[in-house]
Amino acid sequence: MAEHEPSRGRSDEWYTPPHIFEALRLTFDLDPCSPGPTHWVPAARVFTKDDDGLAQPWRGRVWMNPPFGGRHGHLPWLKKFLLHGNGIALVRAYTSSAWFHAYATCAEAMLFPKGKTKFIRPDGTIGRSPGHGIVLLSMGAVCNHALWQSGLGLWVPLGGRPLRLVAA
Ligand SMILES: C[S@@+](CC[C@H](N)C(=O)[O-])C[C@H]1O[C@@H](n2cnc3c(N)ncnc32)[C@H](O)[C@@H]1O
Repeated sequence: MAEHEPSRGRSDEWYTPPHIFEALRLTFDLDPCSPGPTHWVPAARVFTKDDDGLAQPWRGRVWMNPPFGGRHGHLPWLKKFLLHGNGIALVRAYTSSAWFHAYATCAEAMLFPKGKTKFIRPDGTIGRSPGHGIVLLSMGAVCNHALWQSGLGLWVPLGGRPLRLVAA
C-alpha cells in the first residue's frame, strides 16, 4: 500500500502539489478540508478539521481533496461535492471500485492526470510514488473549462448524471 493511501490510523496530511493549481489557472472560494488558512491551495476561505468542513454550508467554487477517514471515508465528501455542483475534486482513480462508478461518474467532467501524482507532506517533502493514479472531477462550466484547458491529462466530458439516480 502506498504511504498516503486510506487506512485506519494513517495521516490525512497529504497535500495537493502546487503544479495542479498552476495548470488549472483558477482561484477557489472555499477549500472545505484544509490544514489551515496559510496553505497554498488558492482558496479565499478554508474549513479545517476543527470546523468540520463536512458539516458546514459550502458557498461558491470549491477545491476538495478530502480526508480519508477510513475505508470509504471520502464518500460523504464526494456526495456533498456533487450536490454542491461548483468546483473541482481530487479523488483516487479506483476505477475498479463500486463507489467510483456510482459517484465519480456523476461529475460533469473528469480528468486523469498523466503519471503518478506525488503528494506533499506537511514538512514540504514530496511523498513516494503512489500505487495508483488520481482523478480530478469537475462541476460547473468554469471548472469544466479549467480542467479541459489544464493539459494535465486525459479529459473526459460526462454530462453530470443526477446523484439522485444513484442507489444509496
Ligand atoms: C488530503 S488533505 C488535503 C489538504 C488540501 N485541501 C490540499 O488539497 O492540499 C485533507 C485535509 O483535510 C483536513 N481535515 C480532516 N478532517 C477534516 C474535517 N472534518 N473538516 C475539514 N478538514 C478536515 C486534514 O487536516 C487535511 O489537512
